[in-house]
Amino acid sequence: MEIKVSAGNIVEHATPALVVNLFQGVKVPGGATGAVDQALGGLISRLIESGEVSGSSGEITIIHTSALAANAGGTGKSARAKSAPIAAERVLVAGLGSSDAFDYEAVRVVSAQVARKLRALKVSGAATIVHGAGIGGLDPARCAEAIAEGSLLGLYTFNKYRSAKSGEDAGSSDSDANSPGPETLELVEMDAAKTKALDKGVGRGVLYASAAITARDLVNEPPNILSPAALADAAEVVAKESKLGFEVLEEAACKKLGMGAYLSVAAGSSRPPKFIHMTYKGDARKPANNIWLVGKGITFDSGGLSLKSAGGMITMKGDMGGGAAVIGAMKAIAALKPKINVHGVCAATENMPGGSATRPGDVVQAMNGKYIEVENTDAEGRLTLADAICYAKDNGAAKIVDVATLTGAISVALGRGHIGAFSNSEELYSALEKSAATQGEPVWRLPLGSVTKRQNRSNIADLKNTGGRGAGSITAAHFIHEFAGETPWVHLDIAAFNMSDGVSGVNVQGATGAASRLLVRLAEDLG
Ligand code: BES
Ligand code: MN
Ligand code: ZN
Repeated sequence: MEIKVSAGNIVEHATPALVVNLFQGVKVPGGATGAVDQALGGLISRLIESGEVSGSSGEITIIHTSALAANAGGTGKSARAKSAPIAAERVLVAGLGSSDAFDYEAVRVVSAQVARKLRALKVSGAATIVHGAGIGGLDPARCAEAIAEGSLLGLYTFNKYRSAKSGEDAGSSDSDANSPGPETLELVEMDAAKTKALDKGVGRGVLYASAAITARDLVNEPPNILSPAALADAAEVVAKESKLGFEVLEEAACKKLGMGAYLSVAAGSSRPPKFIHMTYKGDARKPANNIWLVGKGITFDSGGLSLKSAGGMITMKGDMGGGAAVIGAMKAIAALKPKINVHGVCAATENMPGGSATRPGDVVQAMNGKYIEVENTDAEGRLTLADAICYAKDNGAAKIVDVATLTGAISVALGRGHIGAFSNSEELYSALEKSAATQGEPVWRLPLGSVTKRQNRSNIADLKNTGGRGAGSITAAHFIHEFAGETPWVHLDIAAFNMSDGVSGVNVQGATGAASRLLVRLAEDLG
């Protein structure tokens, strides 16, 4: 779908579908919605009065303007022009919910809902007013950004492996998703002086969406196709398109660097690991002005010899969601050009139970020399992150953010309300918390205390990779902290957010691209 901005009066705007909005509790709509209401002879007001339209979030009411013309008893062209003095074939009234709770995330969500509705209606194009810029009181350009971002994310589909038109018959989970959706969405603004800023906002929204869409495509890809090598290839394509520095460390190079923890995870797979490193130079003269984004990149997590159950393995193609978020973010960062150097790292590998797999009880040595007792080969993410973080530090990392589908326990602790966050730095954490909130991907900080830290003590090595039954997400974070040390660091556990069971807000069934957009926002906010 192409998103355009144009100046004009929406009442006179010819389009298959015109989208206006309504806050909950508003009795007589004002602004653009009010103008449409007047043109429709007060119909929207009457629907509010009767209770049919409430403005609640998620509510979308469709008014067919040709039916209005017929009711008015008109025949022929001139009669229609008189009785239906609005050029749009349909009007969609989208509920925005309460104006108190309204923010940019609400704009993204309503835009996603509207975009899916337009697709279900099979209209070729649509026009909309800029939600939020009126009594919502938000910045119009940022609203335009949120509209573009939300619409594109909401319309996302992954149909690569569906034969043409097989959707419904083949039992597709969402048959609507097989129609292509509107070709264009026009943002119509009364004031021509504002269109330039709106245009810029749309461009930014498209880039933010592209970060998540790139990540979603990688996560949705089946694990037989998306091997570590295929993930590295995909990262290379992004790097080439975006003119980023790119390097892959092969197994031998990783061995030379002493990445014994990372390679112990790769040991059970017949497919070689690929250590991916992408570089964006936004402040080349100050190499110390940098942030390293480290994504967990397990292309399939069987659990290794500590084998998962059949049910526990089903979504494990998505265990490279952190790495995908980093790759997607690097793409948007390269286009948005913040003044900071950004490194994207992903220690990609499978976690398989092959004949040479790491055994529970094995002791391995990480790049910083620490010995780790592998108590459970299913706690593999932290092993790969340990070496990736050592690598970042050895290469001068000033700040590190790691993103990982790390623990099932984070779903128990926080559900899907917040991404779990851990940090050793008040400053970096508060910056990230703010970026995440603006981006509609809120984080919640969990504590790193001395009592839970003890749970990682090993009887024979420096530490072990598990921490007992309690506080599973926290002990995983303690483990990573051992390797981050004093370098300002935030760990994000996205295990609960990586995949969605169905349509919800800007997400659809499957991969969400979790954390990719918050990383972009963080790079922009720091740059
Ligand atoms: N990749 C999983 C975590 C996960 C679980 C992600 C569910 C998404 C959905 C991770 O490698 C893992 O297996 N963690 C174990 C740790 C345990 C063995 C200490 C877990 O959460 O059970
Ligand atoms: Mn695992
Ligand atoms: Zn895993």
